[in-house]
Amino acid sequence: MSGKSYKILISRVIPEVGISLLKDKCDLEIYQGEGVIPRQQLLQKIRHVDGLLCLLSESVDRELLDSAPRLKVVSNYAVGYDNIDVSYATEKGIVITNTPDVLTDATADLAWSLILAAARRVAEGDRLMRGKGFPGWSPLFLLGQDLKGKTLGVLGAGRIGTAVVERSRGSNMRILYFDRQTSDVLERDFSARKVSLPELLEKSDIVSIHLPFSRETHHLIDEKAISGMKKSAVLVNTARGPIIDEPELVNALREKRIAAAGLDVYENEPQITPGLTALENVVLTPHIGSATIQTRNDMARITAANLLAVLEGREPEAIVNPQLLKISK
Ligand code: GLV
Ligand code: GLV
Repeated sequence: MSGKSYKILISRVIPEVGISLLKDKCDLEIYQGEGVIPRQQLLQKIRHVDGLLCLLSESVDRELLDSAPRLKVVSNYAVGYDNIDVSYATEKGIVITNTPDVLTDATADLAWSLILAAARRVAEGDRLMRGKGFPGWSPLFLLGQDLKGKTLGVLGAGRIGTAVVERSRGSNMRILYFDRQTSDVLERDFSARKVSLPELLEKSDIVSIHLPFSRETHHLIDEKAISGMKKSAVLVNTARGPIIDEPELVNALREKRIAAAGLDVYENEPQITPGLTALENVVLTPHIGSATIQTRNDMARITAANLLAVLEGREPEAIVNPQLLKISK
């Protein structure tokens, strides 16, 4: 045995700042393979560790939690934690932590990249330049949508949804939002209105999704929801793929029932629905909402700090099941 107090498994190589926070006090095992750690290896290695630092690609389900007699904390390298059975972990006294705040701006920036790219047909233009080439300036060529004075509808008025609205200031947009909670910030600073989902879909020119994934939000945007949108609407998703019924979106885009979409997340990542890549009116990015150097460093720091805090009996910066803190005090 080494003199280090805690055994930690890190399921993928993360930025060095996270590793250096942990390496003096912990006995670290970092999975070095390409891509996702094979499930059997994960199930094997989890038996011997006090803490797991993992990604969205690891399903932290009952089977995994039941294979982990020493496990005290799972530090998720993400803000979303739909990959984790939080209620079962809580039952077992295992603390779950995540990375809110540090990725809010990066994700809001990416949502706007997709909004602008889809509305102004940027990716389509880029493909054209590389393929057939530039046919020359023309009055009717590659016309998109203006944003000035239009209506932006956000599904989810949490940190990211709010940061997306903040970035609309220059376009002087009308703001609608759909959320269980009232957002004082959006109502005060943006005269935003909280509306039902059908009203938001009917009135918005841009619809941007910033909700967590759960049973309630699974296929929230289905065939019926899409049919309630404007024909000129742009739909953007930087939250979680399964919030949209992806095959239905493909049909709607193909039949031009909505104008365009921008997607960073997919229903069955990393697979995408057949037909999606053949469409011109969709901009596709590979789940890069938080993918900036600064943000990924911040995520590495906070996931490491969260892990260590729990193991040393301190309160972590971000906790998903805070009821466990009360029990241990
Ligand atoms: C990424 O998708 C995250 O939830 O952080
Ligand atoms: C995500 O955590 C958000 O706050 O929108």
